[in-house]
Amino acid sequence: MNNIVLCGFMGCGKSTVGKNVARKTGKKYVDMDFYIEQKAGMCVSEIFEKYGEQGFRDMEHEACEELSREKNLIIASGGGALTFERNVEAFKKNDTVVLLDVDLETIKNRLRNDTKRPLLQRPDKDKVMKELYDKRLPLYISAADIVVKGQSTPLKTAFAVIDAVRLHPIHKKSIDYSDLK
Ligand code: S3P
Repeated sequence: MNNIVLCGFMGCGKSTVGKNVARKTGKKYVDMDFYIEQKAGMCVSEIFEKYGEQGFRDMEHEACEELSREKNLIIASGGGALTFERNVEAFKKNDTVVLLDVDLETIKNRLRNDTKRPLLQRPDKDKVMKELYDKRLPLYISAADIVVKGQSTPLKTAFAVIDAVRLHPIHKKSIDYSDLK
């Protein structure tokens, strides 16, 4: 089986849903941020501090390339990863990208007390989140093969992801109208 890559905004549940998908399918779960942290020997905030956001994005790209060469993984991507074309390209060849679609208000609530995400450690956090969310949503949608609502419990959402991925080849065929002009 090719990999399933969960994408979406910070706090949309990629990690918790991803772990549930892995548990229910017996596949290996990989958290992309953790993968990067292990390689770098430091946490995401430290990477941002030491190498800046661009340094982190380059490590993230390397992680996308490496993980896309593997199989049978359930990957929780970082919230920014699939907003970059080079990372979308890496996963587009073989893997199924699933967007967990969660509205901004829910996300704001979930991230109210967050201290781990460098992009949100600022006084105008709400404004920044709205701007980023509006900018990224169309990019996520264009990167995704499938969109699943992520409002429900992690387990229910995981089942929705599994079902959607199972149906996906049929769905893909049904939208691949190759005889249309
Ligand atoms: C980021 C999201 C984070 C992490 C980094 C940058 C982003 O991952 O990769 O802080 O640009 O949205 P999560 O989506 O798991 O929080």
